[in-house]
Amino acid sequence: MDTVRTLAIIKPDAVRAGNAGKVLSMIEGSGLALEAVRMFRLTKETAGEFYAVHRGKSFYGELLDFMSSGPCIALVLSGENAITRWRDLMGATNPASAAEGTIRKLYGTNVQFNACHGSDAPETARAEVAFFFSGAELPKS
Ligand code: CMP
Repeated sequence: MDTVRTLAIIKPDAVRAGNAGKVLSMIEGSGLALEAVRMFRLTKETAGEFYAVHRGKSFYGELLDFMSSGPCIALVLSGENAITRWRDLMGATNPASAAEGTIRKLYGTNVQFNACHGSDAPETARAEVAFFFSGAELPKS
């Protein structure tokens, strides 16, 4: 199977709680490769663009407030089957349903404050990586 890239975000709740290092450690322990990292605080507008697919949903406004509430860390991860592997490591969107040992189970609070994000499919992964990382930061593999 080919090596693929995916976008991961360590969200403001996890950064604020001092869990970013632990999440990075779990990523390294998983065997996924870290290709690029950026830390920044999203504006509400940029968060709105990133999560445009959720526009109109009941939680959209709260999601933008949350994602712009403090710094987050965006990462490009790569490896065989990286999209699924990162999603497995994160656990279910709602920490209450996430498997033991997953990031969201360990560090998430609820379906909104859920510690991390990951792309859900190859097309989304390409778009989400390009949203935060320029070609200069991330050469073509
Ligand atoms: P994420 O994987 O980043 O993708 C969309 C985000 O919207 C999700 O994680 C949650 O943070 C948030 N979200 C999804 N469903 C709900 C919900 N029912 N209530 C509040 N936030 C939600």
